[in-house]
Amino acid sequence: MTGRRCLLSWLCAAAVTCAVAQQAPPWTEDCQKSTYPPSGPTYRGLVPWYTINLDLPPYKRWHDLVSDKAPRIKILVNSLKNVANAFVPSGKIMEMVDHKLPGLLGTLPGPFEEEMKGIADVTEIPLGEIISFNIFYELFTMCTSIITEDKEGHLLHGRNMDFGVFLGWNVNNNTWVVTEELKPLTVNLDFQRNNKTVFKATSFAGYVGMLTGFKPGLFSLTLNERFSMNGGYLGILEWILGRKDATWIGFMTRSVLENSTSYEEAKNILTKTKILAPAYLILGGNQSGEGCVITRERKDSLDVFELNPKQGRWYLVQTNYDRWKSPFFLDDRRTPTQMCLNRTTQENLSFATLYDVLSTKPVLNKLTAFTTLIDVTKGQYETYLRDCPDPCIGW
Ligand SMILES: *[C@@H]1O[C@H](CO)[C@@H](O)[C@H](O)[C@H]1NC(C)=O
Ligand SMILES: *[C@@H]1O[C@H](CO)[C@@H](O)[C@H](O)[C@H]1NC(C)=O
Ligand SMILES: *[C@@H]1O[C@H](CO)[C@@H](O)[C@H](O)[C@H]1NC(C)=O
Ligand SMILES: *[C@@H]1O[C@H](CO)[C@@H](O)[C@H](O)[C@H]1NC(C)=O
Ligand SMILES: *[C@@H]1O[C@H](CO)[C@@H](O)[C@H](O)[C@H]1NC(C)=O
Ligand SMILES: *[C@@H]1O[C@H](CO)[C@@H](O)[C@H](O)[C@H]1NC(C)=O
Repeated sequence: MTGRRCLLSWLCAAAVTCAVAQQAPPWTEDCQKSTYPPSGPTYRGLVPWYTINLDLPPYKRWHDLVSDKAPRIKILVNSLKNVANAFVPSGKIMEMVDHKLPGLLGTLPGPFEEEMKGIADVTEIPLGEIISFNIFYELFTMCTSIITEDKEGHLLHGRNMDFGVFLGWNVNNNTWVVTEELKPLTVNLDFQRNNKTVFKATSFAGYVGMLTGFKPGLFSLTLNERFSMNGGYLGILEWILGRKDATWIGFMTRSVLENSTSYEEAKNILTKTKILAPAYLILGGNQSGEGCVITRERKDSLDVFELNPKQGRWYLVQTNYDRWKSPFFLDDRRTPTQMCLNRTTQENLSFATLYDVLSTKPVLNKLTAFTTLIDVTKGQYETYLRDCPDPCIGW
């Protein structure tokens, strides 16, 4: 708790943005109704689909997508460089990233090394910057994830991707710089083998891990950041210093989506794999009771909390705090999410009502880049870009 509070206040001071972010209330509002199908000022637009052909060599898989998006990726990478240079003005960090980081690449597993090399070559961005861009997603994901089960045992999975906190505030229109730059980079991906879908996911162009996705008919998976003193920075430092026995989280979730063939197998891997940073993994299956939130430390899982419709637990909600602790007082998205689900009732669960919950401030906030709705058994997967016009809280 202390660590998190320090982190927040330090970053607020550093960014000098809190005063601006704290616009006139109300930051919260009544549970939204009839917001679906999406329209109006909180809806930014649809997300384009791209096919990623897993039969191609890893180096070539991302070429079409990243050549479309290269100019946008460059803008984002430049913003991140500006953040790094603001902290260490000598330019030493970027020098290290460009020249030293690729030397570590030899130790990256599976297809990831080649995929990132392919992306670096097509975008003409130095490989070290593509790697840091990929590491960056392991660290700044504030999110809300929900799994629900209706009276017939049918599951739905929804999530808001909140991203870009502390990385700079645009005073002209009260938005987070990085969040805004990520919206045009948001893509839906259809990963195929033999021209058949293996899994679908939503990601940011240039990132090869996966934080939001599903395997039609089998399971759905989302990842939320978990802050902890023994956290991601330490894990990544250890990894750079040579302890390579842990997996990047985004690589683990991508591998699970690509290669696991059941809810149970996915759950087993997500619970047991040693990872570089703590995280919450939210996993849904294809039948009654198959839904869980896995709270991970780097080595172990601390808690696996499951749906239990017989005992009245017909939904799971996860934001960025351990369920047995109160949320950070300035960032309680958990209570409004639960309250709106309670009001929705188990009788009226649908993409429409889930979207209503995910459209209610502060569950929807200025960090929200997109909302995804997943129906594993029906094979339905929808992602919508979001905006949160004033008055709206910064997170
Ligand atoms: C169910 O949800 C829809 C969509 O928000 C809403 O229009 C409808 O009034 C709700 N029905 C009940 C019985 O609450
Ligand atoms: C805010 O301004 C930035 C930079 O001009 C722009 O990219 C972004 O789309 C704007 N966002 C909104 C919600 O108006
Ligand atoms: C996939 O479909 C394309 C066009 O429909 C075809 O040319 C190609 O041979 C197919 N590939 C495989 C692996 O079946
Ligand atoms: C999935 O499994 C295949 C076959 O074992 C392997 O080549 C591939 O690298 C795996 N994918 C990921 C993302 O780990
Ligand atoms: C549900 O998933 C299991 C594996 O976890 C699979 O064996 C089964 O066929 C799936 N059921 C349906 C209806 O797709
Ligand atoms: C939601 O309903 C459950 C079960 O009735 C209750 O325990 C919980 O306090 C409610 N939460 C909110 C935020 O209203």
